[in-house]
Amino acid sequence: MSHAPLKNDRFLRALRREPVDRTPVWLMRQAGRYLPEYRATRAQAGSFMAMATNPDLACEVTLQPLRRFPLDAAILFSDILTIPDAMGLGLHFIQGEGPKFERPIAGPDDIARLAVPDMEDDLGYVMAAVRTIRRELDGQVPLIGFSGSPWTLACYMVEGGGSKDFAKVKSLALNHPDAMHRLLGVVTDAVIAYLAAQRAAGAQALQVFDTWGGVLSPTMYREFSLRYLQRIASELDRGHGDDRAPLILFGKGNAAWLGELADTGADAVGADWLVDLGEAARRTGGKVAVQGNLDPVTLYARPEAIQREVRRALDSWRDGNGGSREGHVFNLGHGMSPDMDPDSVGVLIDAVHAFSAR
Ligand code: CP3
Repeated sequence: MSHAPLKNDRFLRALRREPVDRTPVWLMRQAGRYLPEYRATRAQAGSFMAMATNPDLACEVTLQPLRRFPLDAAILFSDILTIPDAMGLGLHFIQGEGPKFERPIAGPDDIARLAVPDMEDDLGYVMAAVRTIRRELDGQVPLIGFSGSPWTLACYMVEGGGSKDFAKVKSLALNHPDAMHRLLGVVTDAVIAYLAAQRAAGAQALQVFDTWGGVLSPTMYREFSLRYLQRIASELDRGHGDDRAPLILFGKGNAAWLGELADTGADAVGADWLVDLGEAARRTGGKVAVQGNLDPVTLYARPEAIQREVRRALDSWRDGNGGSREGHVFNLGHGMSPDMDPDSVGVLIDAVHAFSAR
């Protein structure tokens, strides 16, 4: 399928570390409950999954933040838990409690039965949403596809939902490392196929969310998270030239690992707010672009404080990056929350564009 030419390519250029007129900005969870129009669509659909599995509704909520704000990228409206759901675990969302699986992984026997889902039969609704969104975007901004990291998906698959201490999944890794590696191996195969299918359907950049990598000791991080991120970065075909879909590895609590992540062959790494961007620039040494990293809580502050923190983050990157603003994609260090004020998002985006003009 042929697509309209891209009108705003700042985001893709910054990921390639090419010069841009302003630093591009998008926000994790930019489509969500903080927008009244999202809440209305969700109420109409009845549930989160009803919305995510309907390409027109998924497209509608993807575009909602772009109608309000001059964002430089769109992100597919879906969830990281679609892969385990397609593997048969039975995803549902309980109001106020977050995601739950009806049939979590209890041990090695359950792991032996897992197989890579079929990208069209089991996850075709995601690819249909990507195709619809790409068409409706009409070249306005690039579309980001995404997946959870193998470790982060394993956390939800074994815990059955969110967790405070990740005792079940860590115990499984410690007691049955071979079974854990089989689990992570199958999930990694699925993640690679899923990202490749999203690219084939029209996604122009790909982000992996390693939300829970930061809960592991260094030894366990290397063995159970980093190793599989390395496999994704080396095996995922991202295409060539202007058609290449850059790969971003985002992780919470990954400050200590930025050097290793830059060496995986990924195009960019996403950092949280526990590291200064200048330090992130030094640790990644110009090998990758860096995305981040304002503390999301900054969006509760008054406009002058938001503007000050935006300037601080932009200048920290420039100072650590040899005086150049290139190679930086502005974002939060994690996702937005439902009770944030949409007006604050406008303040943030305008500040990024104004303070970073070349
Ligand atoms: O960023 C975007 O705008 C794109 C959409 C997106 C969602 N989830 C929509 C969503 C993305 C990229 C995700 C990724 C995701 N999902 C992650 C990784 C990123 C992160 O935040 O660390 C994780 C860990 C999940 C798992 C998940 N899905 C949780 C913990 C929840 C519950 C959150 C809550 O506040 O209830 C979800 C549901 C979910 N995914 C919502 C949205 C907008 C809220 C659902 C609702 O409308 O009730």
